[in-house]
Amino acid sequence: MKSLKGMHVLMGVTGGIAAYKSAELCRLLKKSGATVQIVMSEAACQFITPLTLEALSGRPVAVQMFGRTQGALEHIDMPTEADLMLIAPATADYLARCATGRASDLISSVTLAFAGPVIAAPAMNTNMYTNPATRRNLETLRHYHGWHFVEPTSGELACGTVGQGRMASPQDIMAEVLAFTHRDLAQKKIVITAGPTVEDIDPVRYISNRSSGKTGYALAKRAQLRGADVVLISGPVSLAPPSNCQIIHVRSALEMEAAVLAHCDDADAVVMCAAVADYRPASKADEKIKKPQLNQIQLVPNPDILAGLGEKYRNASTPKLIGFALETENLKQNATAKLQQKGADVIVSNLAADALEGDMTKVTIFESNGDFQETGIITKAELADLILNLI
Ligand code: CTP
Repeated sequence: MKSLKGMHVLMGVTGGIAAYKSAELCRLLKKSGATVQIVMSEAACQFITPLTLEALSGRPVAVQMFGRTQGALEHIDMPTEADLMLIAPATADYLARCATGRASDLISSVTLAFAGPVIAAPAMNTNMYTNPATRRNLETLRHYHGWHFVEPTSGELACGTVGQGRMASPQDIMAEVLAFTHRDLAQKKIVITAGPTVEDIDPVRYISNRSSGKTGYALAKRAQLRGADVVLISGPVSLAPPSNCQIIHVRSALEMEAAVLAHCDDADAVVMCAAVADYRPASKADEKIKKPQLNQIQLVPNPDILAGLGEKYRNASTPKLIGFALETENLKQNATAKLQQKGADVIVSNLAADALEGDMTKVTIFESNGDFQETGIITKAELADLILNLI
């Protein structure tokens, strides 16, 4: 069981309705062994009293910049003592202030003065969350300040609308904090492919595979939280890129192959999660092909990227090669054959009949040494951790 024993967490609470969940989060942080210093914005005090968080954290709660009793340099001392800053909830206004480096109140001053890792759990109305100004602020904090975000979930919001913006549950935030602080993949470089490839026939038609990209993105997110240096090579999907990963957008199998080859030499593992199209049109027509000629398209095979890597690194101990296979029958037989044919170390395989909607999955993980494990129904994030444990 991972714990936060010996860790001092500076927990920021800003002013949104989700502030009521910060009490439970504070309790979970304490329970896992952390010491917790709470700093609240004045607006947060409209939603939950400092007294509640003071009782749960066992320390006086800091709110105001001036007129306190704890010493004049509180906004410098508090960040200096902390190992990690966790903001939950993080409102749109707080994020905007941090993205522009403002220090207009105690909580933003403390954040600006804090040099360590910051994890934030945004919570706000969907329109506020999707507003380009907020998106830009999130990107700024992600790319230039290295912040990690625990994405808000979708559902019914306090304002009555339905959409993304609800703060992640205290349990999920805790899980991310634990994963984040358990940096067992530090110094490891992991290349992950995700989503489908798209092979253009003409300007309006293409050949592709079904793939949401969710498993690959979950892998990238968990790997990154566990300290790995992640290169995510993604076909077209409608998912937000995970924080702090190098993301390379590709379209075709050939583009994906080139990106993989450009990054795999010093990688510790390559996880081929993408649903690569096996064939592509011999050439892409510049003009739309008319219906009568459409059945004359010549297809040529795409390179098998995983098999190419298996060949390239046949006698090398790294990168570890992990593939995926969706089958309709003979799971074990097909997976064993793919391990051999592609020179892979691991094949994560599932039956199409077991393919589950959304974030759940059920797979069998086959290793080249003959070991295998059946997972039962688990989340894609849990699957990601099982796979990463093999690296
Ligand atoms: N793969 C790849 N390049 C391809 C096709 C597949 O790298 N051109 C990888 C996939 O990313 C996956 C693994 O190989 O990790 C297995 O994919 P799958 O489609 O099951 O393999 P195929 O060789 O296409 O076998 P099948 O005949 O079952 O489609």
